[in-house]
Amino acid sequence: MVAEMKPEFSMPLTEGAPVKAHVKDLGLAERGRRRIEWAEAEMPVLRQIRERFEREQPLKGVRLSACLHVTAETANLMRTLKAGGAEIALCASNPLSTQDDVAASLVQDFGVSTFAVKGEDTESYYNHVVAALAHGPQITMDDGADLVSSLLFISLDRLDEVHPKVKEWASGLSADERVALLKNIIGSSEETTTGVIRLRAMEKDDVLRFPVIAVNESDTKHLFDNRYGTGQSTIDGILRATNVLLAGKIFVVCGYGWCGRGLALRARGLGARVIVTEVQPVRALEAVMEGYEVMPLIDAAALGDIFVTVTGDLNVIDLHHMQNMKDGAIMANSGHFNDEINISALTELAGGRGREVRDFVEEFVLPDGRKIFLLADGRLVNLAAAEGHPASVMDMSFANQSLAAEFLMEHHAELENKVYVIPQELDHEIALLKLNSMGIQIDVLTEEQKKYLSSWESGT
Ligand code: NAI
Repeated sequence: MVAEMKPEFSMPLTEGAPVKAHVKDLGLAERGRRRIEWAEAEMPVLRQIRERFEREQPLKGVRLSACLHVTAETANLMRTLKAGGAEIALCASNPLSTQDDVAASLVQDFGVSTFAVKGEDTESYYNHVVAALAHGPQITMDDGADLVSSLLFISLDRLDEVHPKVKEWASGLSADERVALLKNIIGSSEETTTGVIRLRAMEKDDVLRFPVIAVNESDTKHLFDNRYGTGQSTIDGILRATNVLLAGKIFVVCGYGWCGRGLALRARGLGARVIVTEVQPVRALEAVMEGYEVMPLIDAAALGDIFVTVTGDLNVIDLHHMQNMKDGAIMANSGHFNDEINISALTELAGGRGREVRDFVEEFVLPDGRKIFLLADGRLVNLAAAEGHPASVMDMSFANQSLAAEFLMEHHAELENKVYVIPQELDHEIALLKLNSMGIQIDVLTEEQKKYLSSWESGT
């Protein structure tokens, strides 16, 4: 018998909020609402899904906890899930990316329990994760697998591996409640590459206890979000933080994956001379064939004016690279964690943290007087210093999230504890909704062509 799962948690809540929530200031709601509406206008796919969800109620009564960047686009996803009948708790997946006005409007205008404050410290961040876990979710939605990994560490009784705040809360749960916490979950969905890597490792180690949909793997996600979204918004973040002219600059892209491709493309489009660094030979070759310079980072280090990491890897820009950099070099990260640039080595090299010379620009002075600049504390520069992806990009990602939740509701009983990709029909449905919203029609296969393409007998 599974206990009814809604364990209590204690943390400061926003007074006067219509639902349980912790946001900066409810007075910002009006501004947030305008922002949400502005984003909505660029999210026609999600709007079409929301209209159907309203009619069909595919998520009726489902408790859903989401750990996502709390932005205007996410707000529109929350509206869609709520329209489908879900009861939602939302916490931030990054302490710097929260839009406080949007968080306020989500609570005030849309009745979504939201736990997020821009610039919150680690303790408050994990208090908010606890609030999302304590919602007793049946579906979780992650951007970096924080909810799923916390749940698994709790279920495996490895409480020393979660943040002390999560540990404190989980230690107070009864055995029944801990069992229920996990048993309640019918499935999860994951937004980003880094999360998917962690989830695949969980599947391999046989610790995954429910099915997960890797939304990131849909064509309508990574082709748009990682490439066009990260490409444009990373540049946007760098420009807003520094206001440097990109034309003529040497722009080093570390990692030529989906994000790296988009970033290199846009940097070149603005007149930068682009160098790519890679560890995967086919991707490195692709970058060469696209006309970029490709070389080891230690060589690029001495040439680059701006360095951006988009690898999902650790210490990609390390001490020896920084020691090789020119005076005035700028470093930023757009990969998921702030681990890609070895900030502690830089801090040690410079004899301490630097001064903030502009918002999101920290100046480190090396022993020989050279200055190196780090943007946004090495966190996702597009979210910290700009506004993340444009709404039309998130429209595609969040259409995938919405259909993933519906898919989990319909099919969880048939799924194993594995990482799944969204079925191709749903990917195609999203692409068709997008084309439809753009007024673009495409051809359809004739019966004769379908037969030809699916048989091995014809065509030889
Ligand atoms: P991907 O797997 O397609 O590409 C990563 C590339 O980095 C691979 O080609 C890999 O070989 C390369 N790489 C790994 N270690 C390296 C090293 N030491 N030096 C040079 N290259 C190295 O992944 P994708 O989709 O491009 O995502 C990259 C990161 O960006 C992930 O952390 C992901 O979560 C994050 N991301 C960030 C977004 C944003 O809004 N800023 C949006 C989407 C993803």
